[in-house]
Amino acid sequence: MRIAHLTDIHWQVPPTLSELSPKRVLGSVNLYVVGRHSHFTEAVQTSLVEHVVALAPDAVFITGDLTAQSLSSEFAKAREALQPILDAFPTLIIPGNHDVYTQGAQRSQRIRELFGEWMGLSEGPVGRLDIGNVTLLGLDPNRPHLIHASGVVPNDQLAGLAAILADPSMQGRRILLGIHHPPVDRHGELYTRTHHGLINAQDLVDTLDAAPVRPDAILSGHVHHGFRSEMVLSDAKIPVLDCGSSGYAWLPEQKRAAAMGLYDLSGQDLGVSRYLHDGTGFAPEPGGAFATGR
Ligand SMILES: [Fe+2]
Ligand SMILES: [Fe+2]
Repeated sequence: MRIAHLTDIHWQVPPTLSELSPKRVLGSVNLYVVGRHSHFTEAVQTSLVEHVVALAPDAVFITGDLTAQSLSSEFAKAREALQPILDAFPTLIIPGNHDVYTQGAQRSQRIRELFGEWMGLSEGPVGRLDIGNVTLLGLDPNRPHLIHASGVVPNDQLAGLAAILADPSMQGRRILLGIHHPPVDRHGELYTRTHHGLINAQDLVDTLDAAPVRPDAILSGHVHHGFRSEMVLSDAKIPVLDCGSSGYAWLPEQKRAAAMGLYDLSGQDLGVSRYLHDGTGFAPEPGGAFATGR
């Protein structure tokens, strides 16, 4: 069973004047005046979708930040671009902070208009997709803030996660847990930075520590540069895999390259592969997953 992991693709469209909320004024200056929009390119985004289709995974997990500013036009662009994947493979999508960028986008749950079918939320607050003996679970710690990009996992999701992992039917299943904000950083420290981190990462640690069944790995995005780390529980360690932005432009002088992960759950050990964009297309990471430090 092979699961493809994509994150932080950031399809972007400049806002219309009527869409310019205070937060989007700040965001648009950052994107279109400072130039951050050039960090993500359609050529790489298109190449990513072609690459995933060619890999033919058993399922796809997208861990948020489909858009830059939660605009309807951006979600429409993302949907059109992702359609070949959505048509071909079981897919679970969770939002990132850029997908609930404003109070309005969160209130209306705009992401659900075009992606609700792939968010697995029909049975509770935790996203879920079952494929064979694999279960993908997804959390949503995002909340809009004028400046901060931090997250907090709501209590109902922590309780929902605890209930799923305590269900006897989960014994023996392979589980991947997705959350946009990585709960630990590349050094294994809790990633609780006020402006960008998962503020209540310790609550997630405590929930998993108390669970009778633990995920095989935690999949995240948000920091754009990939890393492999570990969450330490009282009696176990859970791999944390942040594949890095899958929509990054090819900017080798800035050590930027788009990346995606492919995880093989066929054997007892988790198989981890990572593909990097090399200027022409996605290729296996030289030296093995996370060897390049990009
Ligand atoms: Fe992002
Ligand atoms: Fe993010």
